[in-house]
Amino acid sequence: MSKLQSETERRRTFAIISHPDAGKTTLTEKLLLFGGAIQLAGTVKGRKAARHAHSDWMKMEQQRGISVTSSVMQFPHRDHVINLLDTPGHEDFSEDTYRTLTAVDSALMVIDVAKGVEDRTIKLMEVCRLRDTPIITFINKLDREGRDPIDLLDEVEDVLKIQCAPITWPIGMGKRFKGVFDLYNNRVHLLPAQHGGKVQEGEIIEGLDNPRLDELFGSMAEELREEVELVRGASHAFDFDAYRSGLQTPVFFGSAINNFGVGEILDALVDYAPAPLPRPTDSREVLPTEEKFSGFVFKIQANMDPQHRDRVAFMRVCSGVFNPGMKMRQVRLGRDVKIPNAITFLAQERGHVEEGYPGDIIGLHNHGTIQIGDTFTMGEDLQFTGIPHFAPELFRRARLKDPLKSKQLLKGLEQLSEEGATQLFKPFRNNDLILGAVGILQFDVVAQRLQDEYKVDCTFEPVNVATARWVDCDDPKMLEQFKNKASDNLAEDGAGMLTYLAPTRVNLELTIERWPDIRFHATREH
Ligand code: G4P
Repeated sequence: MSKLQSETERRRTFAIISHPDAGKTTLTEKLLLFGGAIQLAGTVKGRKAARHAHSDWMKMEQQRGISVTSSVMQFPHRDHVINLLDTPGHEDFSEDTYRTLTAVDSALMVIDVAKGVEDRTIKLMEVCRLRDTPIITFINKLDREGRDPIDLLDEVEDVLKIQCAPITWPIGMGKRFKGVFDLYNNRVHLLPAQHGGKVQEGEIIEGLDNPRLDELFGSMAEELREEVELVRGASHAFDFDAYRSGLQTPVFFGSAINNFGVGEILDALVDYAPAPLPRPTDSREVLPTEEKFSGFVFKIQANMDPQHRDRVAFMRVCSGVFNPGMKMRQVRLGRDVKIPNAITFLAQERGHVEEGYPGDIIGLHNHGTIQIGDTFTMGEDLQFTGIPHFAPELFRRARLKDPLKSKQLLKGLEQLSEEGATQLFKPFRNNDLILGAVGILQFDVVAQRLQDEYKVDCTFEPVNVATARWVDCDDPKMLEQFKNKASDNLAEDGAGMLTYLAPTRVNLELTIERWPDIRFHATREH
């Protein structure tokens, strides 16, 4: 096997999808701990804040105790290389959150045992479904009282429309939480008494009939035996192919804060989750093991280093090997660029890349020429597909304090929307500048950055737009007609694409009904 093949096969690139507070940060920290990337589990949040105590808009995130920017962490497990792409969590979640999911090969869904399926999870799951991303599920916080596990799995199946195959089963819950039963290896994994921040193995008891269980659990042992029988009869058996095609999710139970169940998740990533997959382009499918390098940019982040006011473009390697100093073709611009130094994301630290293999994420310094969706190759003219803009859900009109700065405002909004966290719309009927986002915090971030980077003082005020759709039509005449009739609600987006800004959802539905030949798209490809 070539080095490229073996390095590709040992990579697992994934992201966590969850609703805020389900335990994503805690679990991330414990995954790094188990992966040996950090010795003692401190708080990822705390360290992240200290490291980024640079720019003002990041200070703003800290004050609110949330992280706006997703980062990438790489760590080893069982001779595999795991790339964890963090997705922004709270009110701040942005298009980056969605697009990060286009750069992974699988996802880990974290659900709070007391809360069940929550709305953010539903939304993120919809995005995963666009690519049939395989999903492993972790039900967290079993050390607290929560919902009946069987009900919970029913809810996941009903609401998220994905089959559940429990791999472990919880023994008790809350104060009575004792550990999990591994349904496939037929053994009990006990919750260790104390973990003290270190990785500690709890006792393993082989076999459900083991008298040690009665000794330890008393009457709970018999309850466990009955429950396991019930679960085995009533739930789906794990089906590898169904998992790989996104139809079924293997389910694990645990408690991230107690380090419990985390090792099983890492093992599942190694054993079940896919290595880097082939990627579609506008002309052909690119296999990861092709010798020639290729990759695409899924995210651009500003001001990671205040010394350099440049931005970092996050690129997913799709094929071949990246070496520093190599020349590649930026397909959109049709020009060859030399990449002297790129950034890697070894857990918690940014270093310089030695080599980047398929599945790895590397950071390119960007002085404004790289856009989200850009493909880089060794000269072949192809474009990776499936890196969409999502129709924003929140809209605000920019209001300038100093009217003489309108040029700078436009430039600032255009450049910031090129980074992709927000989108700019210019209505046909007036000179408004309307900003769209999927997370409310994005407006504050933009206002702050306009001030810092463009010296423009502006606020964002409510505007009568409920949702947006990109519009096209095969019949140019029909499109002209539509443009005339609907011009009050039409706009151009940052890339010059025709967009319908609907004042209400009902208005959108009626318009779609009235114009059957016009297509209304909720996503737009770059
Ligand atoms: P998030 O990134 O998904 O938003 O969740 P995060 O890890 O920040 O966890 C949210 C809260 O849930 C935190 O408590 C965290 O300690 C707690 N938590 C995470 N995993 C477990 C678990 O397995 N069991 C229990 N009981 N709690 C868990 P917090 O009070 O909001 O913050 P903190 O002060 O503890 O940091």
